[in-house]
Amino acid sequence: MRTQVAIVGAGPAGLLLSHLLHLNGIESVVLESRSRAEIEATIRAGVLEQGSMDILNEAGVGERMRKEGMLHHGFELAFGGRRHRVDLTELTGKAITVYPQHEVIIDLVAARLAAGGQLLFETSEVKLHEVDSAQPSVSFVHSGEAGRIVADFVIGCDGFHGVSRPMIPEGVREDFQRIYPFGWFGILVESAPSSDELIYAQHERGFALVSTRSPTVQRLYFQCDPQDKTGNWSDDRIWAELHARLEHNDGWKLKEGRIFQKGIIGMRSFVCAPMRHGRLFLAGDAAHIVPPTGAKGMNLAISDVKLLSRALAGFYRDGSRELLDSYSSDALKRVWRAEYFSWWMTRMLHSFADASPFERRMQRAELENVVSSRALRTALAENYVGDF
Ligand code: FAD
Ligand code: DHB
Repeated sequence: MRTQVAIVGAGPAGLLLSHLLHLNGIESVVLESRSRAEIEATIRAGVLEQGSMDILNEAGVGERMRKEGMLHHGFELAFGGRRHRVDLTELTGKAITVYPQHEVIIDLVAARLAAGGQLLFETSEVKLHEVDSAQPSVSFVHSGEAGRIVADFVIGCDGFHGVSRPMIPEGVREDFQRIYPFGWFGILVESAPSSDELIYAQHERGFALVSTRSPTVQRLYFQCDPQDKTGNWSDDRIWAELHARLEHNDGWKLKEGRIFQKGIIGMRSFVCAPMRHGRLFLAGDAAHIVPPTGAKGMNLAISDVKLLSRALAGFYRDGSRELLDSYSSDALKRVWRAEYFSWWMTRMLHSFADASPFERRMQRAELENVVSSRALRTALAENYVGDF
């Protein structure tokens, strides 16, 4: 089989790239190891920056997002028994939208299939070949049959554990990494939202986050041991922990409901540079990971793909390689700023078991500074809405 662009991975990065290329008259094939049902049901990110919404709208896949997404003009920082609002719109003129990642996936899969796009689900043994030659290819097994796609370019959108990044030889690429000594316990709850806006809470027992998914489903997270098991956490124990971290004496109460999903995610910061080797380009989590505290992961995947689709469109339009050549450094500029922001939010809001009493006071002083200074709140808000 021959195509112009072979894409490995049908996450937000791979699917959106395939669709943007299609809108530019460029043919692609997407290879995905999981089933359509599985990718459409995996619960992950929730927050979309305005810039991400703009790209999804421009790609013609924003109709449900505009209808069902929940626009948020601010969020709250809770610490020391009080909640402090960060007014995103007043500080930046922008807002964010809560629209779950799996809904973005459902919209993108539908759009690709309606346009006759080639998505091969449940492919296995995906291997990349000769990515630094003029004719890279990808071999795989699909429906029990071995196949091979020869392409002009191969794009690795296969997430952190994918097969693409290791194709950049170790001597060529540099990996930067920090693994955090905690994870997030995430639950989905059948209940109306406890709060109109997200609440990011710093507490001596650990971080907690109140988010939402729909008018009838809440998304809640709390800092935990990354090695812990969901089986160790009964519903009663989860609620006791969340009440302790989130409620103060101001009368606000967390709404309880049936918990219908529990999961634990580890947290790391990671960057691979460069994000290109020959005709292999990486986008999204395949090239970088942020801890979820700043809600940047899916947004970074989308902004990588915006750059890459423009670069590929330029190449197919008039043979221009300029944007392809600058893709890695252009993308990494935004990636490093988002890495910094996510690391900063993580450090400011989580409990570190080895922090000295002095470091704990510094953490509190930093939060006090942020909520008392319009300049610092503006910097936080600009980063959160993605104004960079
Ligand atoms: P992925 O979504 O990981 O997609 C990669 C795809 O490649 C997968 O479907 C995988 O099955 C497939 N694949 C892997 N290996 C192969 C292979 N060998 N062959 C074929 N296919 C393969 N981000 C935000 O922006 N905002 C948030 O609020 C936010 N919250 C989060 C909360 C949680 C609990 C988690 C876990 C993440 C969160 N993120 C958030 C991060 C966000 O989900 C990711 O950054 C995003 O999914 C990255 O998209 P991607 O397309 O690069 O990779
Ligand atoms: C959600 C996830 C985040 O990482 C975050 O910072 C805010 C919200 C969510 O899943 O709703």
